[in-house]
Amino acid sequence: MNACGFSSSSSARRLMSRRLSSAAARWHPRLHRFSNDDGEKNGALRRMKSRRRTVKAENGKQLREAAARRKEEDERKHVLASSSSCFSSAKREGGKDENKKERKDAVKALVSKVSGFYELGGLDMYRAIDACQRDVFGLTTQKTSLAEIGVYHGRSFLALISLRKNDETCIAIDCFENQADNADESGVGDYSKFRKHVTKACEVMKAGDSNANFEWDGIVDSDTALPSFIKVVKADSTKMTNEADFNEDKDGPVRIFSIDGSHTSEATFRDLTLAADECLHERGVVILDDCFNPDWPGVISGLAKYLDASGRVVPFAIAYNKVYLCHPSIVETYQLRVTPNVVVRKKASLFGRECLVCKHGWFSHVSRKRRPVPKRVVYYICIHRVCLDFPA
Ligand SMILES: C[S@@+](CC[C@H](N)C(=O)[O-])C[C@H]1O[C@@H](n2cnc3c(N)ncnc32)[C@H](O)[C@@H]1O
Repeated sequence: MNACGFSSSSSARRLMSRRLSSAAARWHPRLHRFSNDDGEKNGALRRMKSRRRTVKAENGKQLREAAARRKEEDERKHVLASSSSCFSSAKREGGKDENKKERKDAVKALVSKVSGFYELGGLDMYRAIDACQRDVFGLTTQKTSLAEIGVYHGRSFLALISLRKNDETCIAIDCFENQADNADESGVGDYSKFRKHVTKACEVMKAGDSNANFEWDGIVDSDTALPSFIKVVKADSTKMTNEADFNEDKDGPVRIFSIDGSHTSEATFRDLTLAADECLHERGVVILDDCFNPDWPGVISGLAKYLDASGRVVPFAIAYNKVYLCHPSIVETYQLRVTPNVVVRKKASLFGRECLVCKHGWFSHVSRKRRPVPKRVVYYICIHRVCLDFPA
């Protein structure tokens, strides 16, 4: 027995700890849990739980309200879009329905069978640009060509050549086997896959089994075993020049030039200069891929550098992971003409130039090297058999 009348020091510790916890509980309501006063404890617990429920309900309500507001806004935009005569395709927005529709489009179905990085919706932009060039600018009667840097397995090139008119030359530029020229490994081109895909698709389009405007006399080049209107340039695009590698007298200037080769800033700048300042028809369009893809910051840097140097073209639209550029004097014409064919979400300034911001596709939301792959991307890959080149 000690001086306080306890039989052992452990009993003293127990009493002390009980007193301490009830004193602490008076200061901190959450500690009431440990209090011996059951009535007090239960009351505090009930109040705490009900406060939590209220906060949760308020948060839920706010979230629901915000979601409803966003939905309403989207619907309003759609109504506006479809009620203005030209936005007839506004309903294309929306996953499954869109995929079904796109698979019904024969050219899109052909493109979808080829591995690569081209979003099928981009074909609506291509067709609108093509229609503008034919109907407004009268390019049908002039000698012109189509060109792409970075053709990979032929996916985006196929979309481009589906626009081919009568005797147009289609120029495919890629370093293919010579990957030492591919500075940042933006994708490894494969000539045999490219040739196989493109030849097969041309046969289908020629047979009229598609909705393409495509024209081809059926002649195959004996050297390349490709349709004779296709000119393949196996080279580092950054070392090419108009004089050395293009034959403007024979093929005419390029009316649509797609750039999807090396994605470094220097290569992008050089490819833009070659395409826009050296080879482009004055009413032509340059299409720059991956500008807003966070994996390839070199592309937007290269574009900034090009615009800083006051090149010939300026951006007029952003759609499906690509930026579209043309001469400043025809920006409005193109903007007016593409509007009926694509979902235009808003207008926004890009490097001081007002651009149409059109619908984005899947690639713009996804980093190619990210894991795990989101479900919707897996769905897209399954439907369109896209090869994303995920690293092993
Ligand atoms: C991203 S892939 C192109 C994808 C293709 N446009 C599509 O949508 O299916 C990039 C391509 O550019 C090629 N490439 C990379 N650097 C190049 C260079 N300096 N010159 C020419 N081609 C290059 C690669 O071989 C590869 O085929």
